[in-house]
Amino acid sequence: MRRLTLASLLLWAPVFGQDTKEAEKLAPYYPTPESIVEKMLQIGDVKPGEKLFDLGSGDGRIVIMAAKKFKADATGIELDDDLYKRSMDSIREQGLQRTARIIHGDIFKQDYSPASVITVYLLPSSNDKIRPLLEKQLKKGTRIVSHDFQFSDWKAEKVETVEDDGEGRSHTIYLYRR
Ligand SMILES: C[S@@+](CC[C@H](N)C(=O)[O-])C[C@H]1O[C@@H](n2cnc3c(N)ncnc32)[C@H](O)[C@@H]1O
Repeated sequence: MRRLTLASLLLWAPVFGQDTKEAEKLAPYYPTPESIVEKMLQIGDVKPGEKLFDLGSGDGRIVIMAAKKFKADATGIELDDDLYKRSMDSIREQGLQRTARIIHGDIFKQDYSPASVITVYLLPSSNDKIRPLLEKQLKKGTRIVSHDFQFSDWKAEKVETVEDDGEGRSHTIYLYRR
């Protein structure tokens, strides 16, 4: 049976966005497998104390692993009410409130200028939409790690494909540096 991918979920686009109010939903919820999260953070060379932002943080898994395992200061941005609550519950349960948090808001309305690392798992068209904001706000040297979809017009410093995530599909991770 063909596996569901984030891109194939596009077919369901009309049912998403019911909770978006005036904000634009840039991708449906589709979590990155934990093994790929770890790979993304390794490729992003996330170091203790660095500020990381996950744009569209879902259940908070990237933020939580960045804070817990890589000792980063991690912030997620999430529009969806339930995902926001679920991710904040996980952060509290794991006692990570000092170094991990989720902003219940819109990716387009945040300030990413303090970031050392940005992580994204959005759609190609969404990467195009957020690119001008990142070009405007990010300081020189900020690393951007994108799961599965590249940023057009940016040249990746590294592209790594993980052939099998244990669930039978491959993942590509793109690393960019401003
Ligand atoms: C493909 S999921 C990725 C989740 C997580 N980053 C991961 O890799 O596991 C994309 C997430 O972005 C959120 N999202 C989409 N548009 C958004 C927006 N404008 N502002 C904040 N979050 C948004 C969705 O609700 C969804 O949880």
